[in-house]
Amino acid sequence: MDTLIINSNDKAGMKKAGDIIKSGGLVAFPTETVYGLGGDAFNPSSSKKIYAAKGRPSDNPLIVHIAELSALDRLSDSIPETLYKLADAFWPGPLTMIIKKLASVPDETTGGLDTVAIRMPHHPVALELIREGGGYIAAPSANASGRPSPTLASHVSEDLSGRIDMIIDGGEVGIGIESTIVDLSSDVPVILRPGYVTEKMLSRVLGHVETDPTLMKKTEGGRPKAPGMRYRHYAPKGDMQLFKGSISEVADAINRKLSASSRKCGVLCCNESKDLYHTGYVRSLGSRNDMDSVALNIYRALREFDDEGIEEIYAESFDTEGFGQAVMNRLLKAAGYNIINTEGTK
Ligand code: TXA
Ligand code: MG
Repeated sequence: MDTLIINSNDKAGMKKAGDIIKSGGLVAFPTETVYGLGGDAFNPSSSKKIYAAKGRPSDNPLIVHIAELSALDRLSDSIPETLYKLADAFWPGPLTMIIKKLASVPDETTGGLDTVAIRMPHHPVALELIREGGGYIAAPSANASGRPSPTLASHVSEDLSGRIDMIIDGGEVGIGIESTIVDLSSDVPVILRPGYVTEKMLSRVLGHVETDPTLMKKTEGGRPKAPGMRYRHYAPKGDMQLFKGSISEVADAINRKLSASSRKCGVLCCNESKDLYHTGYVRSLGSRNDMDSVALNIYRALREFDDEGIEEIYAESFDTEGFGQAVMNRLLKAAGYNIINTEGTK
């Protein structure tokens, strides 16, 4: 199949994109978090095509993207008050909410679960595509399964060209890591995936909110509630280790590893430390004082390491305050929870 690439300000192209969705095809599109791979959420065969194009296990449910609150009526008849409160505060935006679904929402879209994940994105191109495409777009991140999520249209074409009908190029995304997921289907709201909307921001609106305890550490027998968080996601091709400690302790430990290794090494660091490394492919994510820039660069940097053929990746850790929790969750997953503590070595 030929994959058509259009620019997001091509009006006729956007109409065509909507027609592709309505006739059961797949369109990748920008959102404020990462690029998504969209199909009609009410067409079971579109959802099947999404799994096939990504090479994703079909028990891993998709997020349904909507553009208006009134669209909720076709998804659920038991919408909790908490959803409206959070929608009021954070929609459109980088927050996905899970609620009980109506039987008419296809099992192919929800991985056979009795709940559905819903998000109203903030990106104007995403909202336009949802409206042109009939109002309900099922979309996972537009990467091949196991690769870092795409933050540029070129990342999507690297992974999915020839496997989907169209890619809408809307430039670089704004946030760079996927939405926060909160499960509202039981009594206490639980964060299943940290993101730009933090636990503190959610609890300001809802009062008590819990976080799935398996997200920040490898647990014996613990099983993340979001099926997608169970797979080793976001994995670069090289072996990755994360280092915890002060900047100078971490830089010393990484420099020792670099000297000892005969393989092709990469360092994932920050502006404050990048000059401390004397060898290897050194990639700064931005300043430690600007977590927004760090988040935006993570997946792009991991893809660059792959392109450079890096075999060992040494990465610095970041503070888990606020948005930092989501950043560290993605780094921990990329490293398979392989973390080395250098605290007290200097
Ligand atoms: O920012 C985002 O959320 C992006 C953009 C495209 O909107 N989408 C995204 O989708 O990250 P995906 O499929 O890569 O991640 C969705 C996650 C998976 O971990 C999946 O298991 C979980 O959401 N999920 C979806 N529906 C669920 C449900 N009903 N119960 C529990 N987890 C669910
Ligand atoms: Mg994904």
